[in-house]
Amino acid sequence: MTLTLTQAACTVLLTADPLEKCRLTHAFAADWRDGRLDGVGDTAPPARPARPEKPQLLPFKAMPRRSYGGDKGRIGLIHALAHIELNAIDLGWDIVARFVAEDMPKAFYDDWVRVARDEAIHFEMLEGLLNQLGARYGDLPAHDGLWQAAEKTADALMARLAVVPMTLEARGLDTTPTTVDKLSRNGDTLTPPALEVIYHDEIYHVAAGVRWFSYLADRKGEDGETAFHAWMAERYPAGLKAPFNHEARAEAGFPRPWYEKLAR
Ligand SMILES: [Fe+2]
Ligand SMILES: [Fe+2]
Repeated sequence: MTLTLTQAACTVLLTADPLEKCRLTHAFAADWRDGRLDGVGDTAPPARPARPEKPQLLPFKAMPRRSYGGDKGRIGLIHALAHIELNAIDLGWDIVARFVAEDMPKAFYDDWVRVARDEAIHFEMLEGLLNQLGARYGDLPAHDGLWQAAEKTADALMARLAVVPMTLEARGLDTTPTTVDKLSRNGDTLTPPALEVIYHDEIYHVAAGVRWFSYLADRKGEDGETAFHAWMAERYPAGLKAPFNHEARAEAGFPRPWYEKLAR
């Protein structure tokens, strides 16, 4: 039986084991790329993706303070990033399956399937680093902030694009170079190359967010900047944390006034 793209997406979302989630992501991404899926379909995604028993999910404020330096600090950092990437895989498939009523062009699905595949590669890289340090994903608690952002934007594609790729993923572009510098100065030669790969892929993810947000604004005859500010006022009123990585954001096609005016 040939699956539709949204059935494939839901299969990944309902798979709890992280490495199996990655394996399926690669297989379905290749199926979609090579035309082996039966169109987009309209299978609705679950409210929450399946997740392994571990890590334990804690509210953000209950997270233990991370120690820096040494293998323990490194494991803490990589584990936190691996958790973000695992969420990002699900966010990629969720955006594919959740907004079919918007009747988006094929290029939209191509982009988010590619994003999901990139996120699977990122997770696998970080899990590999954890393994090299004698640890694995699930060893430490993690927080549930990313999926909460998904739930708060489950009703509107423009809200999802504004909050997830254009805010949370763009924030990663701002912080990653500093993290890489810090790790390199501490003599870490293992983590920085992985973070460089992630950083470059994430520029594309932010770009996809900006591109499809602009497409939807155009389609409605709205000004992109005004629409972005309106959605952010409604769904992410806390404002954005400066300083920004203007170079990377420009590479992603993110117009500076759109985000700069929201700096707190
Ligand atoms: Fe990623
Ligand atoms: Fe991403």
